[in-house]
Amino acid sequence: MTQAAWTTIDNHPVRPLSHLFADQPDRLSHLSFELGGVYFDWSKTHLDAGLVEGFAKLANEAGIDEAREQLFTGGIVNPSEGRPAEHVAERGNGSAEAVDVAAARRERVRALVDAVEGEAFGELTGILHIGIGGSVLGPALLVDALGRNARGLDVRFLSNVDGQAVDDAVADLDPHTTLIVVVSKTFTTAETLSNMNAALDWLRDNGVDDPEGRLVAVTAQPDNAVKQGIDETRILQFAEGVGGRYSLWSAVGVSAALSLGWQAFEELLEGAAEMDRHFRFTEPAKNVPMIAAFADLLYTQRLKCQSRAVFAYDERLRLLPDYLQQLEMESNGKSVTRDGSPLDRPTAPVTWGGTGTDAQHAVFQLLHQGTTAVPVEFVASRESEDSQDPEHHRQLLLNCFAQGAALMQGKQSDDPQRSYAGNRPSATILLDRLDARTLGALLAFYEHRTFANAVLLGINPFDQFGVELGKQIANSLNEGGGEFDPSTKALMERAEV
Ligand code: F6P
Repeated sequence: MTQAAWTTIDNHPVRPLSHLFADQPDRLSHLSFELGGVYFDWSKTHLDAGLVEGFAKLANEAGIDEAREQLFTGGIVNPSEGRPAEHVAERGNGSAEAVDVAAARRERVRALVDAVEGEAFGELTGILHIGIGGSVLGPALLVDALGRNARGLDVRFLSNVDGQAVDDAVADLDPHTTLIVVVSKTFTTAETLSNMNAALDWLRDNGVDDPEGRLVAVTAQPDNAVKQGIDETRILQFAEGVGGRYSLWSAVGVSAALSLGWQAFEELLEGAAEMDRHFRFTEPAKNVPMIAAFADLLYTQRLKCQSRAVFAYDERLRLLPDYLQQLEMESNGKSVTRDGSPLDRPTAPVTWGGTGTDAQHAVFQLLHQGTTAVPVEFVASRESEDSQDPEHHRQLLLNCFAQGAALMQGKQSDDPQRSYAGNRPSATILLDRLDARTLGALLAFYEHRTFANAVLLGINPFDQFGVELGKQIANSLNEGGGEFDPSTKALMERAEV
């Protein structure tokens, strides 16, 4: 169905960036956008008017209008699991019923925040948030990005089942003044349940009288939490239709709400809601998540790029690449279409990245002169925290902008070792300032871009069956059952596990 649009895109020349800028003096105004306190510059990508038109046609043929409408009205956008995707309802933009349910559940989160502030748990100095994947990456990013100057709570995140991670997470926390927040959508995830029990043991071993009384659970499956011995009054629920990697807006974000305060949490939701409205109602050629998805597809389909790199030129956003890896790779790392037919084109590239300027001294050599083409994305903030030296921030931003310019313009030299081909694409996202509202808009932008990519490719971004087999085999190995290959058997014997 989308073949005609793909043919248009495939036949359109991909011209050098220098030509694109030279031939279209107002290029920047067509490929840069300002929204929700965030500036998006996609002009250093190889998109041009013809390609945008081709991709807009593809979006049309792929049913983007219907897909957007389904997303925002509670339609079944996750057919393999027969359910809607309700993260937008957490921001007030879903079906009326889902929005009401989300609002009522949000009131319970707010009541907990109020109770903690009213010292219902006595003095609180720390939060130990336990969860893995989508149950930790978003909340950890929020707290790390916005919590540097937050309200005196030491928030730790524990995800890995490695005992060292447990020791590190509780080191120097006071068990008598720490609240344990266990987040698991299913409440069956082995790592999270092991870590929950380790945390309860830690409280018990340190003489806390009622360890369970210091624990709050967050889940879409309250019955499973009750089975783990958690009192239902201590359970905050969120909807089954909210996928783990899309869940930070729900009760899953409670640790962030506790540490940043309720007002900041609401501003986060408002920032995301503004991006929702933009994505829902704006035509493709002016729709920021769609333009980003068009460029993503240009690089994976036409130029066969197998990865994309994201560099946060801001320490406060150092966890952004980790968060994006799950969002993009777990959503779109698929090989079949929504209806199960094999795909004949690449889907999600590998998302990777780091922080600038550190990365400049580690991986940028390959980005400038390597043989692998990698589209780069820079994320920075115009303002730093008030407490910081503005000159440091200025240097940080200058470096960020210099990298984008260098990738694009390159430099010819008679000496091939010192020659830079240039014409290497990048996009830049510049926040006015990093606060709850702009971060909300930024993360919702990434969610919708991921969704737009999925619609254009015809895949379902909301399931993740690919993670199941490894879990099943780990269980079989644990139970000593099943027949395994000689390599796996030898590893088991050598490790004596
Ligand atoms: O293993 C993958 C996964 O299911 C993710 O999709 C999810 O975010 C994570 O595990 C944690 O799952 P849960 O929140 O159910 O513990």
